[in-house]
Amino acid sequence: MPKLTVQDKGTFEVRDGQRLVLAIAEQGIDILHRCGGKARCTTCRVEFIEGEPAQMTAAERNKLQDQQNLGAFRLSCQLLCDRDMTVKVLMTRTSNQLDDSGPTPAEQITPEPEWT
Ligand code: FES
Repeated sequence: MPKLTVQDKGTFEVRDGQRLVLAIAEQGIDILHRCGGKARCTTCRVEFIEGEPAQMTAAERNKLQDQQNLGAFRLSCQLLCDRDMTVKVLMTRTSNQLDDSGPTPAEQITPEPEWT
């Protein structure tokens, strides 16, 4: 099982292949996912400290390119826990004073991943 370390929150064993946004949220860690994990809102953004996958879904690449954020952060809804990772959560419900984090993302990456 991969180890997921979330900066200032701890290290957790997570299910191999689980969506990163869900793995973070399941630990009770505050993370936004305002579009429900569809690569639209970018609020699930994380900064990688270690273990950043080189692969990206086309949906993530297009969104980051459109917003000129390629290289700045990754979208946790478009990544799978397939290795040990250390990340920092960048947008939280608390810091944005929102009532909820957004719709719960599906178990599988949406839209259907096209890996680049
Ligand atoms: S881009 Fe909206 S939850 Fe990931």
